[in-house]
Amino acid sequence: MNRTLFMGTNLKMYKTSNETVAFLTELHELTRDIDRTRLTLFVIPSHTSLESARKCVPQSSIRLGAQNMHWEDEGQFTGEISPRMIKETGAEIIEIGHSERRHVMGETDEQENKKVLAALRHGFTALLCIGETKEQKELNISDEVLSMQLKIGLNGVQRKDIHRIWIAYEPVWAIGVNGTPASAEYAEEKHGVIKSVLKKMFGDEAAQIPVLYGGSVNPQNASGLIIKRNIDGLFVGRSAWQAPAFNSLIRQVMPLFKS
Ligand code: 13P
Repeated sequence: MNRTLFMGTNLKMYKTSNETVAFLTELHELTRDIDRTRLTLFVIPSHTSLESARKCVPQSSIRLGAQNMHWEDEGQFTGEISPRMIKETGAEIIEIGHSERRHVMGETDEQENKKVLAALRHGFTALLCIGETKEQKELNISDEVLSMQLKIGLNGVQRKDIHRIWIAYEPVWAIGVNGTPASAEYAEEKHGVIKSVLKKMFGDEAAQIPVLYGGSVNPQNASGLIIKRNIDGLFVGRSAWQAPAFNSLIRQVMPLFKS
């Protein structure tokens, strides 16, 4: 199978709309010579940035996603944002179940599942984030946790829609300023587990579902991760928030990635 490298960043609650536009404009300029049949580049900014973000760079260069979404089309859900509202912004991807949503905001696998199904129903690509906590890792139940997050999170997804499912493996203990990056060997092993669960759920076609690694990716560890067969791309936080740094990271890993 021909693999395309996936490189994306989640801007979390950092850049304002103006800052996002400046970041995207620079990233587009810096990466415009890179063949987009070999690279899927995506950025997930704040909801308030999405509309101006979409206007400043073409979709063919940088795909855009929302960091969260409610599953209902509308209703008495003050402070929530519905699929119809995100659709209007031109975003194509919905990030679902990021570790900070699960562990800071208390979202459950059942809620992530409703969001996945709503995202697919509205024609979005659903980027489901999964990952075990430090305690689960120490209890040696990481594989079970990943399997459960996939089986609940993707419950009811039809095979015809799996081309719009992406998975990010982001171990909770590896993310953010206090995180320790997973070793390439550990990440590769867990990506193998994820791929085998997906295969059991959806059959051979599950091989088309990209599984990205996230959690303290940086220029020191990115090359070791991307050469691994089961790692289809990188989902980066802090090391990608300056356009020149993200551009260098992309150019560092591209030649190492076996398509
Ligand atoms: P860091 O790369 O800053 O650890 O963040 C990763 C992440 O949460 C991507 O979604």
